[in-house]
Amino acid sequence: MHLILIGAPGSGKGTQAKKLVNHFGIVHISTGDILRDAVERQTGLGLVVEHYMRTGKLVPDTQVDGIVEERLDAGDLDNGFVIDGYPRTVNQIQTFAKAMHARQRALDAVIRIRVDNRVVIERMSSRRIDPETGRIYNLKLEADRPPPEIIDRLMRRPDDTPEVIIHRMATYHDDTLPVVKRYCETGQLVLVDGAQPPDTVFRDILTELEAITSKR
Ligand code: AP5
Repeated sequence: MHLILIGAPGSGKGTQAKKLVNHFGIVHISTGDILRDAVERQTGLGLVVEHYMRTGKLVPDTQVDGIVEERLDAGDLDNGFVIDGYPRTVNQIQTFAKAMHARQRALDAVIRIRVDNRVVIERMSSRRIDPETGRIYNLKLEADRPPPEIIDRLMRRPDDTPEVIIHRMATYHDDTLPVVKRYCETGQLVLVDGAQPPDTVFRDILTELEAITSKR
């Protein structure tokens, strides 16, 4: 199974990717996580991309394409993958298609998680991450309340500030909505309503995927 998750910042791509990983035994590839790790470790890549990420701009295609190609060759993708946050520009679509073809892999679906701007802005503002487990919480979601003993260690992402959120939303609109349009034209896009509770969104994703696989 080879899936792409696409959606605005804060739409729930990371949340749904984890559920897909557990359900299908596939690997989660998140360009955002790989880049954040490089920034945290201050690697050569991290030093180059830090400014882009802190300001909510897209990292140049060459860097991101390189990361993805390297990840595709890591040797742990026998069951497939769900890739979250890539491709994010029309140029990245082309590079990704070539990379998949060269490795004789075929994309099964591009899942677009659709959520209103107001909702995603609120979600990013109330997102907190547990640095020890990587678990993501939404402080405003009753069912997602972190246990009291870990509250003090929860962290906010540096790009979840109001100014950077506005920039990330604009970048999504200008650079990534054309990617959504392109996958819609190729018939690979499935749309799910991301404004519902996480488990309901996941159920809808599974229903869409079952419909695709049953047609084969
Ligand atoms: P990236 O890490 O990909 O960030 P993003 O696209 O902005 O998306 P987020 O991680 O903010 O949100 P998400 O959709 O995963 O939502 P989540 O599940 O966490 O990219 C970061 C940066 O890296 C970019 O700005 C760019 O600089 C660079 N980059 C990455 N890829 C690149 C590329 N291909 N090209 C160029 N540059 C690239 O959920 C958000 C919150 O909502 C959480 O608190 C969660 O608990 C909550 N939540 C989730 N689902 C629900 C729900 N259904 N109901 C209520 N709350 C929910």
